[in-house]
Amino acid sequence: MRILGIETSCDDTGVAIYDSEKGLLAHALYSQIETHADYGGVVPELASRDHIRKITSLVQAVMQQTELSHSNLHGIAYTAGPGLPGALMVGAAFAKSLAMAWQLPSIGVHHMEGHLLAVMLEAEAPSFPFLALLVSGGHTQLVEVTALGCYKILGESIDDAVGEAFDKTAKLLGLGYPGGAALSRLAEEGDMKRFHFPRPMTDRPGLDFSFSGLKTCAVNTFAKHGIEARADIARAFQEAVIETLLIKSRRALDVTGLKTMVVAGGVGANKALRAALEKMLLERNGRVYFPRPEFCTDNGAMIAYVGCQRFLRGQSEDLAIKIYPRWVLDELR
Ligand code: KG4
Ligand code: ZN
Repeated sequence: MRILGIETSCDDTGVAIYDSEKGLLAHALYSQIETHADYGGVVPELASRDHIRKITSLVQAVMQQTELSHSNLHGIAYTAGPGLPGALMVGAAFAKSLAMAWQLPSIGVHHMEGHLLAVMLEAEAPSFPFLALLVSGGHTQLVEVTALGCYKILGESIDDAVGEAFDKTAKLLGLGYPGGAALSRLAEEGDMKRFHFPRPMTDRPGLDFSFSGLKTCAVNTFAKHGIEARADIARAFQEAVIETLLIKSRRALDVTGLKTMVVAGGVGANKALRAALEKMLLERNGRVYFPRPEFCTDNGAMIAYVGCQRFLRGQSEDLAIKIYPRWVLDELR
């Protein structure tokens, strides 16, 4: 079965074709980072317009790369939520129009389910069950994954998502937007002993997170020490985030008895986080799996993959254009 996947939930237009026998056949991505950089955040209306501008040529690109015609496809999957309503609407309307023109079944996919299962696109993929740490610009969650569609949220952020905290701190340090990756590069040059930031909510039981205090801590330290302390602040911030994620992940592994972990979402591309989790799982005789960095951030491949799994289960939808900007993960079946 060959499925075309379309992702437009935020500021990346992603398109891919996934084959249930051969794996990923092609993928293409257009990042809108430059469109939004001057505004210091994603401007929803500009995002929608950029998706409209790029989506047709990206679909043409993957069709040409694979030398497939629409008669070789078996279905179309698109991100139905959560995300920006206008941006989701572009992908949904485009997918349903293609489905009608090409007479193919279509299905809406949950963006976070895409992130959770992006790791399945790798040669080394885990088997169920596993503990997933979802760390993106909009979400921070620990999820117990027992099968396709069976997701139990064990803990999540009560305020800022990790990626959001990275981006806000990066902005403070003059690293542009979105600055998560730049902050992490700067942190490598920093002295980890100079400042110590708190590990929020680790002194009490539970698996929830809070990251807004760390950002405030960065603001105060920057106000006191100024630009000269930039790298050391970046380091202290990153150390605090990683150790907090590590403590909660360890707790979640203890509670569930799971031995396998998966890390997903944009912050999953962070090298220091990957190394710390690898070490922790090795010590516990377990194993951690990561998607390649380009599939940690938003992409069409993960949507094509999830769509394919759901079509294989016999699911599909009518041609009504439906989006769910605030869809929660554990409502899925
Ligand atoms: O998953 P994603 O592409 O989009 C959402 O669905 O949110 O995640 C984007 C987030 C941004 O906040 C970005 O700064 C962060 O992931 N990010 C990183 C790194 N690469 C991307 N954060 C820390 N270290 C990185 N290397
Ligand atoms: Zn995402």
